[in-house]
Amino acid sequence: MRLVQLAYASACVGRLQLDTIKSILRKAVEKNRKLGITGFLCFDHASFLQILEGEMRAVNRVCNRIVN
Ligand SMILES: Cc1cc2nc3c(=O)[nH]c(=O)nc-3n(C[C@H](O)[C@H](O)[C@H](O)COP(=O)(O)O)c2cc1C
Repeated sequence: MRLVQLAYASACVGRLQLDTIKSILRKAVEKNRKLGITGFLCFDHASFLQILEGEMRAVNRVCNRIVN
């Protein structure tokens, strides 16, 4: 098993509602847990900073989901 860590920052377009942030976080926690991925997600109303750590294929899968 190959463990990798991915860190990225992403600028937020427009103003996000608190409910939207909560929904992103809820889904991330639920889906990442199933894939054995840990990390954190920060948001300051202008951009996101996220770190994902886990098995390489799992992290790639989540990365594609986020990009989409
Ligand atoms: C800033 C940001 C961070 C995200 N982080 C994760 C994540 O850690 N894990 C994940 O599975 N999806 C993450 N997503 C993706 C979404 O929440 C995505 O819509 C969801 O996984 C797709 O779920 P659905 O197929 O049920 O709509 C993130 C999205 C954004 C915008």
